[in-house]
Amino acid sequence: MAEVFVARDLPGTALDRLREAHEVEVWPEPRPPSREELGERAAGTEGLLSLLTDKVDEALLDAAPDLRVIANYAVGSDNIDLEATKRRGIAVGVTPDVLTDATADLAFALILAGARRLTEASDAVRNGEWSTWGPDWLLGHDVHGATLGIVGHGRIGRAVARRAGGFDMEVLHTSRRDDAGATPLEELLERSDFVSLHVPLTPATRHLIDGAALARMKPTAVLVNTGRGGLVNQEALRKALESGTIGGAALDVTDPEPLPPGDPLLTAPNLQVVPHIGSATHTARAAMADRAVDNLLAGLAAEPLPFPVE
Ligand code: DGY
Repeated sequence: MAEVFVARDLPGTALDRLREAHEVEVWPEPRPPSREELGERAAGTEGLLSLLTDKVDEALLDAAPDLRVIANYAVGSDNIDLEATKRRGIAVGVTPDVLTDATADLAFALILAGARRLTEASDAVRNGEWSTWGPDWLLGHDVHGATLGIVGHGRIGRAVARRAGGFDMEVLHTSRRDDAGATPLEELLERSDFVSLHVPLTPATRHLIDGAALARMKPTAVLVNTGRGGLVNQEALRKALESGTIGGAALDVTDPEPLPPGDPLLTAPNLQVVPHIGSATHTARAAMADRAVDNLLAGLAAEPLPFPVE
């Protein structure tokens, strides 16, 4: 039996399987543990189940020298210093596939919400502004027949592309791989009515969408981000929305998270923001817990992880 720290209670029954095999401590609060609290709890453990809100860096690894496996409850791993875990021989696992469709659904919801001004329209009703049906009130843009630019052609990007087929959209995509069908980012930005981001956050992709990238987009285009907030230079986005350089943005992710209510971005027009809910369905979150536990059980048994970080 190994000692395992789980950084938040998880939906579904996966943690019961973990408890049957190991000595498990689960962080009892809805807020994440602070860096100090995480270090204290992880000290002496061999397994850690971390969330994207938990920074796993050298300092944490120093505080937890017995760690053998880290199961991140996410498909992303940008909260983990993978060089440091590799140097220490710690196996790291993630939760791919099971959140692909949920996240692609949310990306499409944001495309539709951005095109049809859903938040603004809903607010108008609540604020008593619905005086009559108006021929030119709350006009948006067509999604059907429009061009969708998908930045990153991994599992989630491809799932968004499949949904776009149902809306008769023209779909462009960038790709890291040698892919004859890919479109260079600059051209994709210039041609797309909607740009949806699906690349992992790495030093190379941080602020991929900066002022220059936004300037290439159409003045009516909508930027959708369900990847990571750091992909977008938020100050440049605020300016682009205020100046009308682009038509709108619909974000599931921001930098930082949570975005403080007083953040200047929130004063920008034509902006919709939801709180990182891409994978937030009952099914996806329970399946992610299963994958994370599968990774921990394998790693603690000194077996290869079924879902290792790529
Ligand atoms: C992930 O898994 O990386 C998502 O952002 C949260 O589900």
